[in-house]
Amino acid sequence: MNEASARAFPNIALVKYWGKQDTSLILPVAGSLSLTLDTYATTTTVRLDPDAAADSFSLNGVPGAATPTQRVTRFLDLVRELAGSTARARVDSLSEIPTDAGLASSAAGFAALAVAAGAAYGLELDARALSRLARRGSGSAARSIISGLAVWHAGDDAQSFAEPVGGPEFKMIILTLDRSAKRVSSRDAMVRTAQTSPFYDGWISSTAQTLDAALAACHADDFTALGLLTELHALRMHALIQSADPPIRYLKPASIAAFDRVEELRAAGLECYATADAGPNVVVIARPSDADQVAAELVTLGETTVVGAGPGATLLPRGAAG
Ligand code: DP6
Repeated sequence: MNEASARAFPNIALVKYWGKQDTSLILPVAGSLSLTLDTYATTTTVRLDPDAAADSFSLNGVPGAATPTQRVTRFLDLVRELAGSTARARVDSLSEIPTDAGLASSAAGFAALAVAAGAAYGLELDARALSRLARRGSGSAARSIISGLAVWHAGDDAQSFAEPVGGPEFKMIILTLDRSAKRVSSRDAMVRTAQTSPFYDGWISSTAQTLDAALAACHADDFTALGLLTELHALRMHALIQSADPPIRYLKPASIAAFDRVEELRAAGLECYATADAGPNVVVIARPSDADQVAAELVTLGETTVVGAGPGATLLPRGAAG
């Protein structure tokens, strides 16, 4: 097969990934835990083109800019090395993520690319190998290979992959508060944090502890414990990022107001917990039976979208990518 299509979904971390011990292999300083979503798929088709002098990349029908195209080519170089091929490829990607939703597109993007490129170049990769490969495109993509709750292990290249974990069922309410582009990418901000934060060592050791506690909460099917750890860890990550020099502040007044509102809702007996990635938008988790009510309570703050647990990255039947 010299053409293949795959679909993958974004994921939101409950225990965050922030910091690399190896920037080339993309090995994280600590493990993380996330939920792969059922909404906002990326569908990617890879077609080998042995006559082409260079790879080409398009996103939603528009030729990719230099930097993303370079990132795709560097990723395909890894796949070519594994496959013993020199053939260039055409990569066409369709993302359902609204560009202003504040959701990172790299996790679903590189998970779909790993599956599609692996198949197009004739590799036979199991979930572990695909997760390790996707990790090389963007760390968080390792988790989008896996459905639902996924733990991504820290370790060396062979050990650092994501795998499924059982746990409580819950929904996520994506609360879009601010549509402006972020000023510092998470990739650059991670480097600055590692180089300048006096709290970095504490972050690494405490994240490992938080992950152990979160996995214990998953095994005990304990939504309350998992929710409390999720909110704690998000605030710790933002505290760490703010302690970089020069400081980086992703949260805006509207984000803080959302964390306040979530605390109020909890005090009033509606159980929910907040988290935020490298941007101002907030994601709230709630039990499935409470999710619509939580979303209704947050709607005055911003636009809400309720999403659930979704599938891992999958190869599509030929011709199904549209
Ligand atoms: C805040 O996976 O986008 O969303 O590995 O440099 O591509 P790179 O970073 P990326 O970082 C995601 C950071 C985060 C937390 C998380 O998803 O765990």
